[in-house]
Amino acid sequence: MTDPVLDAGALRDRALRSLTTARDRTTLLTTCVEDPDLTAQHSPLMSPLVWDLAHIGNQEELWLLRAVGGREALRPEIDGLYDAFEHPRAERPSLPLLAPGEARAYAAEVRGRVLDLLESTDFHGTRLTEAGFAFGMIAQHEQQHDETMLITHQLRKGPRALTAPDPEPAPPFTGPAEVLVPGGPFTMGTSAEPWALDNERPAHVREVEPFRIDTTPVTNGAYLAFVEDGGYTDPRWWTPDGWAHIRRHGITAPLYWRRDGGQWLRRRFGVTEAVPPDEPVLHVCWYEADAYARWAGRRLPTEAEWEKAARHDPATGRSARYPWGDADPTPQHANLGQRHLRPAPAGGYPAGESPLGVRQLIGDVWEWTASDFLPYPGFTAFPYKEYSEVFFGPEYKVLRGGSFAVDPVACRGTFRNWDHPIRRQIFSGFRTARSEDS
Ligand code: AVJ
Ligand code: FE
Repeated sequence: MTDPVLDAGALRDRALRSLTTARDRTTLLTTCVEDPDLTAQHSPLMSPLVWDLAHIGNQEELWLLRAVGGREALRPEIDGLYDAFEHPRAERPSLPLLAPGEARAYAAEVRGRVLDLLESTDFHGTRLTEAGFAFGMIAQHEQQHDETMLITHQLRKGPRALTAPDPEPAPPFTGPAEVLVPGGPFTMGTSAEPWALDNERPAHVREVEPFRIDTTPVTNGAYLAFVEDGGYTDPRWWTPDGWAHIRRHGITAPLYWRRDGGQWLRRRFGVTEAVPPDEPVLHVCWYEADAYARWAGRRLPTEAEWEKAARHDPATGRSARYPWGDADPTPQHANLGQRHLRPAPAGGYPAGESPLGVRQLIGDVWEWTASDFLPYPGFTAFPYKEYSEVFFGPEYKVLRGGSFAVDPVACRGTFRNWDHPIRRQIFSGFRTARSEDS
């Protein structure tokens, strides 16, 4: 497998661009509402936006100014407030957090010093600085919180605060509904992608039985057929845990959906609109994805199946960085980076399809897989156990591919996201699969 080899100059430029892009996004997400909306708790599932803002600055200070640069703490008294493990989200509004103005000034002060540090850091030094890893990790961290903040914006009640153009309308997809992925070995994970996080490493060979996978993510229209067929009232389709969960919480449709007479409506960033049938379904939990798949006579793909469908090129036997090859994503490849505030219609982005013809694997919606979040053989935690290792186990399911809300720097064919199977405020959808002989 040939992962990209970039020289230190190109990586330094990439680090600067990635940090700047992330900060522009953070600024937009924290200035498009008034300060009281930054300190309010819009949902017990989420932090106040002002917590994310100062936490972004604090992680940047910890990993770049202190760990890489060896500098003293700027404000040692605030570290505990912004440690995600010390305070669960529901408790964060009651902490003596930095006020919006202070949080902005703190993040800006850290960033100013980081830009100086970036100039003077040798990219062939320690493991933390090799290929600019720590700078890339921090740009990805900020972008992950930018997605988290967009989730908070979607949960927030009140009028629209954010706008973005809709994706290009596309002709309805008329290709095959599913694609055959041949059995045999493929390379999963990466050892060479310079900014891949610890849980994506190392590259290793996996055997996968032949299977078929949906060409596109499952659409609202297809999901609606499950809803209208009584899918939420028939325990046959649900795992015992899933059934108990939807009963206890009265869940009867994706989050943000509401039936109005004969029509289904959804709320999206402060606006109520008809549910668009051609768009990938969004805001479903793992239990809902799993139940739909069973109703459809199918199943969720495993994480290895998803990655083989996304990266394996049968012509060369190689795994590429992305479905379309090794080139970085462009707007022709995928719906990423909050350019649009919704998924694009299913079947779009032909330039982004995989060698086997699978579409929209990257961008649009995070895709639930059947798999628990587990380490790859040879995993070592780096640079801290709390990034991945403490989450390994059956409590978390893996999501792949990234949503419209994730930036390209934090999205690639090897990237792994994870969450509890009940979560649906995240930008989650799915596609289904079946074993070749079924
Ligand atoms: C990878 C999205 C599950 O948001 O909890 C942010 C990313 N890690 N700060 C999360 C993360 C530390 C993480 N997820
Ligand atoms: Fe964080």
